[in-house]
Amino acid sequence: MFPGPHGPPLLPLPPGPPMMDGPHARLRRPPGPPGGPPFMPFGPMDPMMKKWNVNNQMNSQPAAKLTAIYCLQTLFQNGVLLGDLFPNFKADTTIGNIEFHEWIGNGWAVLFSHPSDFTPVCTTELARAAQLVPEFEKRNVKIIGLSCDTVTSHNLWIQDIKNYGGLTCDNFPYPIISDADRTLAVQLGMLDPVEKDADNLPLTCRAIFVIDPHKKLRLSILYPATTGRNFDEILRVIDSMQLTDTKKVATPVDWKQGGDCMVLPTVKNEEIKDLFPKGISNYMLPSGKQYIRTTPQP
Ligand code: BEZ
Repeated sequence: MFPGPHGPPLLPLPPGPPMMDGPHARLRRPPGPPGGPPFMPFGPMDPMMKKWNVNNQMNSQPAAKLTAIYCLQTLFQNGVLLGDLFPNFKADTTIGNIEFHEWIGNGWAVLFSHPSDFTPVCTTELARAAQLVPEFEKRNVKIIGLSCDTVTSHNLWIQDIKNYGGLTCDNFPYPIISDADRTLAVQLGMLDPVEKDADNLPLTCRAIFVIDPHKKLRLSILYPATTGRNFDEILRVIDSMQLTDTKKVATPVDWKQGGDCMVLPTVKNEEIKDLFPKGISNYMLPSGKQYIRTTPQP
């Protein structure tokens, strides 16, 4: 059996309390005394790029490779955190080689990953994302997919996606990254603990990252392989972020474009007339505290 969360432990782990409960508890146990230097099984990463080329760091035996891939992701569990500068990686895609930040340009970007090509749920997701490209464009957002297969495979798969989605365009409306060696999956913390390919190598989960024009990570969601995403929700969150970046409001549960917003708690009563000319409403609460203040969407 290969090592991993459902097999034998990956590394000889030192004694000590697990960091957390759950299936990954053993993986997350710190591999050294508390406060000691981090354990680096394959030498240090480039700290600026947070990059580690899996293929160069280990021999190509599948078991060793799988162990190494999990170790890398485990050590850097939270690949990119909200507010972090998103890594500026180079990648081979269906539109050729790209440098991610250059490809994004001055707008927003959505990067979404998939377990593998020619799978049913992924096909529905990529088709829906393609149909929604005009909606993303209205919001100045570029989208890009990623899957652990080759560009040749992606290009064949695109024919199926276009057919399934009823897309008549000649060129597929967004690129798909090839991450066959899982370099990006490791770097961005996207490996699925359960799904494996035919060689028993881990696949990427359904990760989704929204990156703002400053190249900062603004939203990240990881879904299991068996649950397809809802891209209308991603558009809704982008609408909220683009609104709340410039106006002193937050958006409440299930908010949609045009719905009432919440006045930020930091806004003082004397500022309200200038900031919210449409007026505000105070919701009376048992505590007597007037912290639920709503206003029409500014
Ligand atoms: C799918 O895209 O249909 C899929 C991929 C991996 C596991 C389960 C479903």
